[in-house]
Amino acid sequence: MVFVGLTPTKRNYMADLFAKCALLTKPRQAEAMGCYPFFVPLESEAGPEVIIQGRKMVMLGSNNYLGLTQDPRVKEAAKKAIERYGSGCTGSRLMNGTLDLHRELEARLARFVRKQDALVFTTGFQTNLGVISALVGRHDTIVLDRSVHASIVDGCRLSYGEVLKFKHNDMEDLERVLQTIDPKRGILIIVDGVYSMEGDVANVPELVRLKKKYGARLMIDEAHSVGVFGEGGRGVAEQFGLLDDVDIYTATFSKSFASIGGFVAGDADIIYFIRHMARALLFSAALPPASTAAARAALDIIEQEPERRARLWENTRFLQNGLKELHFVTGKSESPIIPLIVGDEMRLAAFWRGLFDGGVFTNAAVSPAVDPDRALIRTSLMATHTSAQLTRALEVMGETGRRQGLLGA
Ligand SMILES: Cc1ncc(COP(=O)(O)O)c(C=O)c1O
Repeated sequence: MVFVGLTPTKRNYMADLFAKCALLTKPRQAEAMGCYPFFVPLESEAGPEVIIQGRKMVMLGSNNYLGLTQDPRVKEAAKKAIERYGSGCTGSRLMNGTLDLHRELEARLARFVRKQDALVFTTGFQTNLGVISALVGRHDTIVLDRSVHASIVDGCRLSYGEVLKFKHNDMEDLERVLQTIDPKRGILIIVDGVYSMEGDVANVPELVRLKKKYGARLMIDEAHSVGVFGEGGRGVAEQFGLLDDVDIYTATFSKSFASIGGFVAGDADIIYFIRHMARALLFSAALPPASTAAARAALDIIEQEPERRARLWENTRFLQNGLKELHFVTGKSESPIIPLIVGDEMRLAAFWRGLFDGGVFTNAAVSPAVDPDRALIRTSLMATHTSAQLTRALEVMGETGRRQGLLGA
Protein backbone atom coordinates (compact mmCIF):
# COMPACT_ATOMS: atom_id res chain seq x y z
CA MET A 1 0.00 0.00 0.00
CA VAL A 2 1.14 3.53 -0.69
CA PHE A 3 -0.23 6.32 1.47
CA VAL A 4 -0.51 9.78 -0.02
CA GLY A 5 -0.47 12.20 2.92
CA LEU A 6 -0.62 11.00 6.50
CA THR A 7 -4.12 9.71 7.12
CA PRO A 8 -5.52 6.97 4.93
CA THR A 9 -8.92 8.43 4.18
CA LYS A 10 -10.89 7.49 1.11
CA ARG A 11 -9.66 10.52 -0.80
CA ASN A 12 -5.94 10.43 -0.06
CA TYR A 13 -5.40 6.69 0.15
CA MET A 14 -4.17 4.81 -2.90
CA ALA A 15 -3.48 1.11 -3.23
CA ASP A 16 -0.52 0.27 -5.44
CA LEU A 17 -1.17 -2.70 -7.68
CA PHE A 18 2.51 -3.60 -7.69
CA ALA A 19 3.13 -3.45 -3.92
CA LYS A 20 2.76 -7.24 -3.65
CA CYS A 21 5.67 -7.79 -6.03
CA ALA A 22 8.24 -6.50 -3.57
CA LEU A 23 6.70 -8.67 -0.84
CA LEU A 24 7.48 -11.94 -2.60
CA THR A 25 10.50 -12.69 -0.45
CA LYS A 26 10.75 -16.50 -0.18
CA PRO A 27 12.19 -17.18 -3.64
CA ARG A 28 14.64 -14.29 -3.15
CA GLN A 29 15.76 -15.77 0.17
CA ALA A 30 16.30 -19.15 -1.49
CA GLU A 31 18.31 -17.44 -4.26
CA ALA A 32 20.43 -15.60 -1.71
CA MET A 33 21.14 -18.91 0.04
CA GLY A 34 22.07 -20.55 -3.30
CA CYS A 35 19.17 -23.02 -2.95
CA TYR A 36 16.76 -21.74 -5.59
CA PRO A 37 15.46 -24.81 -7.42
CA PHE A 38 13.34 -23.23 -10.16
CA PHE A 39 13.86 -22.15 -13.77
CA VAL A 40 17.23 -23.93 -13.93
CA PRO A 41 18.37 -23.87 -17.59
CA LEU A 42 19.32 -27.18 -19.21
CA GLU A 43 22.07 -27.08 -21.78
CA SER A 44 21.16 -30.40 -23.42
CA GLU A 45 18.24 -32.67 -24.27
CA ALA A 46 16.07 -33.67 -21.33
CA GLY A 47 17.24 -37.31 -21.39
CA PRO A 48 18.25 -39.56 -18.47
CA GLU A 49 21.39 -37.45 -18.14
CA VAL A 50 21.47 -33.70 -18.77
CA ILE A 51 24.06 -30.94 -18.85
CA ILE A 52 23.50 -28.11 -16.38
CA GLN A 53 26.10 -25.41 -15.75
CA GLY A 54 28.49 -27.46 -17.90
CA ARG A 55 28.11 -30.50 -15.61
CA LYS A 56 26.61 -33.90 -16.47
CA MET A 57 23.80 -34.80 -14.06
CA VAL A 58 21.34 -37.65 -13.61
CA MET A 59 17.90 -36.30 -14.54
CA LEU A 60 15.27 -37.40 -12.04
CA GLY A 61 12.98 -34.45 -12.63
CA SER A 62 11.42 -34.95 -16.03
CA ASN A 63 8.12 -36.33 -17.31
CA ASN A 64 9.78 -37.96 -20.29
CA TYR A 65 8.58 -41.33 -18.95
CA LEU A 66 9.29 -43.39 -22.06
CA GLY A 67 12.40 -41.43 -23.06
CA LEU A 68 10.86 -40.58 -26.42
CA THR A 69 12.02 -36.95 -26.68
CA GLN A 70 15.34 -38.41 -27.84
CA ASP A 71 13.92 -41.08 -30.12
CA PRO A 72 15.15 -40.57 -33.71
CA ARG A 73 11.72 -41.53 -35.13
CA VAL A 74 9.96 -38.84 -33.10
CA LYS A 75 12.54 -36.20 -34.03
CA GLU A 76 12.40 -37.16 -37.70
CA ALA A 77 8.59 -36.92 -37.75
CA ALA A 78 8.80 -33.39 -36.31
CA LYS A 79 11.43 -32.34 -38.88
CA LYS A 80 9.40 -33.71 -41.78
CA ALA A 81 6.27 -31.90 -40.57
CA ILE A 82 8.15 -28.61 -40.48
CA GLU A 83 9.37 -29.24 -44.03
CA ARG A 84 5.86 -29.95 -45.27
CA TYR A 85 3.66 -27.62 -43.19
CA GLY A 86 6.06 -24.95 -41.92
CA SER A 87 6.71 -23.85 -38.36
CA GLY A 88 3.25 -22.84 -37.14
CA CYS A 89 -0.50 -22.86 -37.85
CA THR A 90 -1.03 -19.09 -37.43
CA GLY A 91 -4.61 -19.43 -36.32
CA SER A 92 -7.12 -21.34 -34.26
CA ARG A 93 -8.49 -24.75 -35.12
CA LEU A 94 -11.88 -23.14 -35.82
CA MET A 95 -10.63 -20.82 -38.51
CA ASN A 96 -7.47 -21.55 -40.48
CA GLY A 97 -5.45 -23.68 -38.03
CA THR A 98 -6.74 -27.22 -38.61
CA LEU A 99 -4.37 -29.51 -40.52
CA ASP A 100 -5.04 -32.97 -41.89
CA LEU A 101 -2.36 -33.97 -39.38
CA HIS A 102 -4.60 -32.88 -36.47
CA ARG A 103 -7.57 -34.83 -37.80
CA GLU A 104 -5.46 -37.95 -38.38
CA LEU A 105 -4.02 -37.75 -34.90
CA GLU A 106 -7.50 -37.28 -33.41
CA ALA A 107 -8.79 -40.37 -35.21
CA ARG A 108 -5.79 -42.38 -34.00
CA LEU A 109 -6.19 -41.14 -30.40
CA ALA A 110 -9.90 -41.96 -30.34
CA ARG A 111 -9.14 -45.52 -31.47
CA PHE A 112 -6.29 -45.75 -28.99
CA VAL A 113 -8.41 -44.87 -25.95
CA ARG A 114 -11.46 -46.66 -27.37
CA LYS A 115 -13.74 -43.64 -27.57
CA GLN A 116 -15.88 -42.40 -30.44
CA ASP A 117 -13.94 -39.20 -31.04
CA ALA A 118 -11.06 -37.07 -29.78
CA LEU A 119 -10.02 -33.44 -29.98
CA VAL A 120 -6.47 -32.07 -29.82
CA PHE A 121 -5.68 -28.85 -27.93
CA THR A 122 -2.47 -26.80 -27.87
CA THR A 123 -1.56 -27.82 -24.30
CA GLY A 124 -2.86 -30.20 -21.66
CA PHE A 125 -3.57 -27.18 -19.48
CA GLN A 126 -5.81 -25.70 -22.16
CA THR A 127 -7.52 -29.06 -22.64
CA ASN A 128 -8.74 -29.07 -19.06
CA LEU A 129 -9.64 -25.36 -19.12
CA GLY A 130 -11.58 -25.75 -22.36
CA VAL A 131 -13.36 -29.02 -21.59
CA ILE A 132 -14.56 -28.16 -18.09
CA SER A 133 -15.62 -24.60 -18.81
CA ALA A 134 -17.48 -25.70 -21.95
CA LEU A 135 -19.36 -28.58 -20.34
CA VAL A 136 -20.22 -27.32 -16.88
CA GLY A 137 -22.96 -24.72 -16.66
CA ARG A 138 -25.00 -22.94 -14.00
CA HIS A 139 -27.19 -25.95 -13.31
CA ASP A 140 -24.29 -28.35 -12.85
CA THR A 141 -22.01 -29.35 -9.98
CA ILE A 142 -18.37 -30.41 -10.20
CA VAL A 143 -17.06 -32.74 -7.52
CA LEU A 144 -13.33 -32.54 -7.38
CA ASP A 145 -10.55 -34.44 -5.65
CA ARG A 146 -8.82 -31.69 -3.68
CA SER A 147 -5.38 -32.66 -5.09
CA VAL A 148 -6.19 -32.41 -8.80
CA HIS A 149 -3.89 -30.52 -11.14
CA ALA A 150 -4.03 -26.70 -11.28
CA SER A 151 -5.43 -26.78 -14.83
CA ILE A 152 -8.54 -28.60 -13.56
CA VAL A 153 -8.94 -26.17 -10.67
CA ASP A 154 -8.69 -23.26 -13.10
CA GLY A 155 -11.12 -24.93 -15.53
CA CYS A 156 -13.61 -25.16 -12.66
CA ARG A 157 -13.06 -21.47 -11.85
CA LEU A 158 -13.88 -20.58 -15.45
CA SER A 159 -17.08 -22.62 -15.47
CA TYR A 160 -20.36 -21.27 -14.11
CA GLY A 161 -21.04 -24.44 -12.12
CA GLU A 162 -20.98 -25.12 -8.39
CA VAL A 163 -17.64 -26.62 -7.28
CA LEU A 164 -17.42 -29.05 -4.35
CA LYS A 165 -14.28 -30.84 -3.19
CA PHE A 166 -13.66 -34.17 -1.50
CA LYS A 167 -10.65 -35.28 0.54
CA HIS A 168 -7.83 -36.64 -1.57
CA ASN A 169 -8.60 -40.15 -2.81
CA ASP A 170 -11.14 -40.59 0.02
CA MET A 171 -14.13 -42.38 -1.47
CA GLU A 172 -16.23 -42.13 1.70
CA ASP A 173 -15.83 -38.38 1.58
CA LEU A 174 -16.74 -38.37 -2.12
CA GLU A 175 -19.95 -40.22 -1.31
CA ARG A 176 -20.71 -37.81 1.52
CA VAL A 177 -20.39 -34.90 -0.93
CA LEU A 178 -22.45 -36.63 -3.64
CA GLN A 179 -25.28 -37.19 -1.14
CA THR A 180 -25.60 -33.43 -0.61
CA ILE A 181 -26.22 -32.62 -4.30
CA ASP A 182 -29.70 -32.01 -5.68
CA PRO A 183 -30.25 -34.91 -8.16
CA LYS A 184 -31.72 -32.42 -10.63
CA ARG A 185 -28.23 -31.01 -11.19
CA GLY A 186 -25.75 -32.44 -13.70
CA ILE A 187 -22.77 -33.84 -11.81
CA LEU A 188 -19.19 -34.20 -13.05
CA ILE A 189 -16.64 -36.00 -10.86
CA ILE A 190 -13.06 -35.05 -11.81
CA VAL A 191 -9.85 -36.78 -10.74
CA ASP A 192 -6.27 -37.24 -11.92
CA GLY A 193 -5.39 -40.82 -12.91
CA VAL A 194 -2.00 -40.44 -11.24
CA TYR A 195 -1.38 -37.50 -8.92
CA SER A 196 1.50 -35.49 -10.27
CA MET A 197 3.32 -34.65 -7.04
CA GLU A 198 3.03 -37.81 -4.91
CA GLY A 199 2.49 -40.40 -7.64
CA ASP A 200 -0.52 -42.09 -6.06
CA VAL A 201 -3.31 -43.54 -8.18
CA ALA A 202 -7.05 -42.79 -8.37
CA ASN A 203 -9.42 -45.44 -7.02
CA VAL A 204 -11.14 -45.95 -10.37
CA PRO A 205 -13.38 -48.91 -9.34
CA GLU A 206 -14.93 -46.91 -6.49
CA LEU A 207 -15.22 -43.79 -8.64
CA VAL A 208 -17.13 -45.78 -11.26
CA ARG A 209 -19.38 -47.38 -8.64
CA LEU A 210 -20.22 -44.01 -7.11
CA LYS A 211 -20.74 -42.20 -10.40
CA LYS A 212 -23.28 -44.87 -11.37
CA LYS A 213 -25.00 -44.81 -8.01
CA TYR A 214 -25.44 -41.01 -8.08
CA GLY A 215 -26.08 -40.54 -11.82
CA ALA A 216 -22.87 -38.53 -12.25
CA ARG A 217 -20.35 -38.37 -15.12
CA LEU A 218 -16.66 -39.16 -14.62
CA MET A 219 -13.68 -37.27 -16.05
CA ILE A 220 -10.15 -38.63 -15.57
CA ASP A 221 -7.01 -36.68 -16.46
CA GLU A 222 -4.58 -39.40 -17.54
CA ALA A 223 -1.67 -36.94 -18.05
CA HIS A 224 0.82 -38.99 -16.02
CA SER A 225 -0.65 -42.42 -16.72
CA VAL A 226 -1.08 -42.52 -20.49
CA GLY A 227 1.82 -44.50 -21.96
CA VAL A 228 2.68 -45.77 -18.49
CA PHE A 229 -0.27 -47.76 -17.06
CA GLY A 230 -2.42 -50.48 -18.58
CA GLU A 231 -1.52 -53.29 -20.93
CA GLY A 232 -1.80 -51.04 -23.98
CA GLY A 233 -0.53 -47.88 -22.25
CA ARG A 234 -3.99 -46.30 -22.09
CA GLY A 235 -3.69 -45.28 -18.46
CA VAL A 236 -5.09 -46.22 -15.08
CA ALA A 237 -8.67 -46.67 -16.36
CA GLU A 238 -7.37 -49.39 -18.68
CA GLN A 239 -5.31 -50.89 -15.85
CA PHE A 240 -8.52 -51.34 -13.84
CA GLY A 241 -10.40 -52.61 -16.92
CA LEU A 242 -12.78 -49.63 -16.72
CA LEU A 243 -11.94 -47.50 -19.74
CA ASP A 244 -15.53 -47.75 -21.02
CA ASP A 245 -16.83 -46.21 -17.80
CA VAL A 246 -14.79 -43.03 -18.15
CA ASP A 247 -17.02 -40.43 -19.79
CA ILE A 248 -14.34 -37.85 -20.41
CA TYR A 249 -10.72 -38.83 -20.91
CA THR A 250 -8.12 -36.05 -21.00
CA ALA A 251 -4.34 -36.28 -21.31
CA THR A 252 -1.30 -34.32 -22.38
CA PHE A 253 1.43 -34.82 -24.98
CA SER A 254 4.01 -33.17 -22.71
CA LYS A 255 5.00 -36.35 -20.89
CA SER A 256 5.04 -39.87 -22.42
CA PHE A 257 4.18 -38.39 -25.83
CA ALA A 258 7.43 -36.39 -25.83
CA SER A 259 5.86 -33.30 -27.35
CA ILE A 260 3.44 -30.60 -26.28
CA GLY A 261 -0.33 -30.47 -26.61
CA GLY A 262 -3.26 -32.31 -25.10
CA PHE A 263 -6.45 -34.10 -26.01
CA VAL A 264 -9.91 -35.01 -24.83
CA ALA A 265 -11.74 -38.16 -25.89
CA GLY A 266 -15.33 -39.30 -25.37
CA ASP A 267 -18.65 -39.84 -27.11
CA ALA A 268 -18.94 -38.15 -30.51
CA ASP A 269 -21.72 -35.76 -29.39
CA ILE A 270 -19.71 -34.57 -26.41
CA ILE A 271 -16.56 -33.98 -28.46
CA TYR A 272 -18.61 -32.18 -31.12
CA PHE A 273 -20.03 -29.90 -28.42
CA ILE A 274 -16.58 -29.21 -26.95
CA ARG A 275 -15.16 -28.54 -30.43
CA HIS A 276 -17.67 -25.70 -30.84
CA MET A 277 -17.78 -24.39 -27.28
CA ALA A 278 -14.30 -24.62 -25.71
CA ARG A 279 -12.88 -21.11 -25.62
CA ALA A 280 -9.35 -22.38 -24.90
CA LEU A 281 -9.54 -24.14 -28.28
CA LEU A 282 -11.47 -21.55 -30.28
CA PHE A 283 -9.47 -18.51 -29.25
CA SER A 284 -5.93 -19.87 -29.31
CA ALA A 285 -3.69 -20.96 -32.18
CA ALA A 286 -3.60 -24.64 -33.12
CA LEU A 287 -0.91 -27.13 -32.09
CA PRO A 288 2.10 -26.59 -34.42
CA PRO A 289 2.84 -29.18 -37.12
CA ALA A 290 6.10 -30.42 -35.54
CA SER A 291 4.44 -31.04 -32.15
CA THR A 292 1.47 -32.77 -33.78
CA ALA A 293 3.69 -35.07 -35.85
CA ALA A 294 5.94 -35.82 -32.85
CA ALA A 295 2.90 -36.83 -30.79
CA ARG A 296 1.69 -39.10 -33.58
CA ALA A 297 5.10 -40.77 -33.89
CA ALA A 298 5.17 -41.24 -30.11
CA LEU A 299 1.72 -42.84 -30.25
CA ASP A 300 3.03 -45.37 -32.80
CA ILE A 301 5.84 -46.28 -30.41
CA ILE A 302 3.56 -46.44 -27.36
CA GLU A 303 1.37 -48.89 -29.25
CA GLN A 304 4.18 -50.96 -30.78
CA GLU A 305 6.81 -51.12 -28.04
CA PRO A 306 5.30 -52.28 -24.73
CA GLU A 307 8.82 -53.25 -23.64
CA ARG A 308 9.49 -49.56 -22.96
CA ARG A 309 6.72 -49.56 -20.39
CA ALA A 310 8.13 -52.74 -18.84
CA ARG A 311 11.57 -51.12 -18.57
CA LEU A 312 10.07 -48.00 -16.96
CA TRP A 313 8.39 -50.18 -14.33
CA GLU A 314 11.65 -52.08 -13.67
CA ASN A 315 13.36 -48.74 -13.07
CA THR A 316 10.50 -47.61 -10.87
CA ARG A 317 10.75 -50.71 -8.66
CA PHE A 318 14.53 -50.32 -8.46
CA LEU A 319 14.38 -46.71 -7.24
CA GLN A 320 11.37 -47.29 -4.99
CA ASN A 321 13.12 -50.23 -3.26
CA GLY A 322 16.39 -48.30 -2.95
CA LEU A 323 14.66 -45.32 -1.37
CA LYS A 324 12.75 -47.57 1.04
CA GLU A 325 16.01 -49.26 2.10
CA LEU A 326 17.41 -45.80 2.82
CA HIS A 327 14.30 -45.08 4.94
CA PHE A 328 13.10 -42.07 2.99
CA VAL A 329 9.45 -41.17 3.47
CA THR A 330 7.96 -41.82 0.02
CA GLY A 331 4.22 -41.58 0.73
CA LYS A 332 1.76 -43.71 -1.23
CA SER A 333 3.40 -43.63 -4.64
CA GLU A 334 2.39 -46.44 -7.00
CA SER A 335 3.87 -44.95 -10.15
CA PRO A 336 7.14 -43.71 -11.70
CA ILE A 337 6.65 -40.49 -9.71
CA ILE A 338 8.26 -41.04 -6.31
CA PRO A 339 8.25 -38.24 -3.73
CA LEU A 340 10.76 -37.79 -0.91
CA ILE A 341 8.66 -36.00 1.66
CA VAL A 342 10.65 -33.47 3.69
CA GLY A 343 7.92 -31.20 5.14
CA ASP A 344 9.65 -27.88 5.82
CA GLU A 345 10.33 -25.68 2.77
CA MET A 346 13.73 -24.37 3.86
CA ARG A 347 15.00 -27.88 4.67
CA LEU A 348 13.68 -28.94 1.29
CA ALA A 349 15.64 -26.18 -0.47
CA ALA A 350 18.84 -27.31 1.27
CA PHE A 351 18.18 -30.95 0.36
CA TRP A 352 17.50 -30.05 -3.26
CA ARG A 353 20.79 -28.15 -3.37
CA GLY A 354 22.67 -31.07 -1.80
CA LEU A 355 21.33 -33.42 -4.48
CA PHE A 356 22.15 -30.88 -7.18
CA ASP A 357 25.72 -30.53 -5.93
CA GLY A 358 25.99 -34.32 -5.93
CA GLY A 359 24.98 -34.41 -9.61
CA VAL A 360 21.30 -35.37 -9.33
CA PHE A 361 18.61 -33.08 -10.72
CA THR A 362 15.21 -33.35 -9.02
CA ASN A 363 12.11 -31.19 -8.67
CA ALA A 364 11.37 -29.28 -5.48
CA ALA A 365 7.62 -29.10 -4.84
CA VAL A 366 6.29 -26.50 -2.44
CA SER A 367 2.89 -24.92 -1.73
CA PRO A 368 0.56 -24.48 -3.64
CA ALA A 369 1.67 -27.57 -5.62
CA VAL A 370 1.59 -29.51 -2.31
CA ASP A 371 0.19 -28.76 1.16
CA PRO A 372 2.34 -26.15 2.98
CA ASP A 373 3.65 -28.70 5.53
CA ARG A 374 4.36 -31.35 2.90
CA ALA A 375 7.21 -29.87 0.85
CA LEU A 376 8.83 -32.65 -1.13
CA ILE A 377 11.44 -33.66 -3.65
CA ARG A 378 9.64 -35.11 -6.64
CA THR A 379 11.58 -37.74 -8.52
CA SER A 380 10.36 -39.36 -11.72
CA LEU A 381 11.77 -42.14 -13.82
CA MET A 382 12.35 -42.82 -17.49
CA ALA A 383 12.43 -46.11 -19.37
CA THR A 384 15.86 -45.04 -20.61
CA HIS A 385 17.59 -44.61 -17.24
CA THR A 386 20.35 -47.18 -16.77
CA SER A 387 20.81 -49.01 -13.48
CA ALA A 388 24.25 -47.35 -13.16
CA GLN A 389 22.59 -43.92 -13.30
CA LEU A 390 19.97 -44.89 -10.75
CA THR A 391 22.55 -46.47 -8.44
CA ARG A 392 24.58 -43.25 -8.55
CA ALA A 393 21.47 -41.21 -7.78
CA LEU A 394 20.61 -43.44 -4.82
CA GLU A 395 24.14 -43.03 -3.40
CA VAL A 396 23.86 -39.25 -3.60
CA MET A 397 20.36 -39.24 -2.12
CA GLY A 398 21.49 -41.51 0.75
CA GLU A 399 24.60 -39.45 1.56
CA THR A 400 22.79 -36.12 1.36
CA GLY A 401 19.77 -37.36 3.32
CA ARG A 402 22.02 -38.77 6.06
CA ARG A 403 24.08 -35.57 6.31
CA GLN A 404 20.96 -33.46 6.55
CA GLY A 405 19.12 -35.76 9.00
CA LEU A 406 16.29 -36.61 6.62
CA LEU A 407 16.29 -40.40 6.80
CA GLY A 408 13.62 -42.07 8.94
CA ALA A 409 14.29 -44.92 11.36
C1 LIG B 1 -2.31 -33.91 -14.24
C2 LIG B 1 -1.91 -32.86 -15.23
N1 LIG B 1 -2.83 -32.38 -16.08
C3 LIG B 1 -2.51 -31.44 -16.99
C4 LIG B 1 -1.24 -30.94 -17.10
C5 LIG B 1 -0.94 -29.86 -18.10
O1 LIG B 1 -0.34 -30.39 -19.20
P1 LIG B 1 0.54 -29.51 -20.20
O2 LIG B 1 1.93 -29.53 -19.70
O3 LIG B 1 0.39 -30.21 -21.50
O4 LIG B 1 -0.04 -28.13 -20.24
C6 LIG B 1 -0.25 -31.43 -16.28
C7 LIG B 1 1.13 -30.90 -16.42
O5 LIG B 1 1.93 -30.87 -15.57
C8 LIG B 1 -0.59 -32.40 -15.30
O6 LIG B 1 0.32 -32.86 -14.45
